[in-house]
Amino acid sequence: LFAGSTEFLKGVVAMSGLPPADRIEICLAGRSNVGKSTLINALTGQKALARASNTPGRTQEINFFTLAESHYLVDLPGYGFANAPLPVVQKWQALLKSYLTGRQNLRRAFVLIDARHGVKSVDEEIMSLLGSAAVTFQCVLTKADKVKASDKERALDLTRKALQKYPAAFPEIVMTSSETGDGIATLRAIIAGLE
Ligand code: GTP
Ligand code: MG
Repeated sequence: LFAGSTEFLKGVVAMSGLPPADRIEICLAGRSNVGKSTLINALTGQKALARASNTPGRTQEINFFTLAESHYLVDLPGYGFANAPLPVVQKWQALLKSYLTGRQNLRRAFVLIDARHGVKSVDEEIMSLLGSAAVTFQCVLTKADKVKASDKERALDLTRKALQKYPAAFPEIVMTSSETGDGIATLRAIIAGLE
């Protein structure tokens, strides 16, 4: 799947702008700055496909990428703190929620959690929302390169515990680093295996 061509299709600012729901769709959700756009680049092996930056609130649209013309990979705006005016943030947060609960071909949402910080209450809000819409989600612990080897098991354990109250949570948690490439092949295989 990731060996085929990957292209940016469009950035969407309203539900009416979504492309036809005619293929398998996977999205990356998570707090601002957790590394969603960077992970899109790592997964696709294209350094600048999705725009990443150190400023929280970089991604303000729902960005669609096509994978081998058979899947959509979707980069979402972050939630939580964002370095943008409040009315603007509120607008994209509302869009984010509509998208997560109203997209019929959304096969799995990957909820990215910073491996150093763990699951926060804003993440739990999104997890509840996904559960209410019966969207299966899977957690990805990002920035593994910033965590000492001895703390990785602990981060996984804490996340596993936090997921227990969410029936919509897929049990396997993946730990990734877009810096070292750790976990990227695993995540690619998971995505390619979705039907
Ligand atoms: P928003 O679009 O604002 O919601 O953020 P985002 O989740 O798309 O984050 P983005 O990919 O823009 O990355 C935020 C910052 O984290 C950037 O400075 C990245 O270089 C850095 N970053 C992302 N992934 C990793 C990682 O695996 N390791 C390290 N060390 N830094 C990372
Ligand atoms: Mg982004």
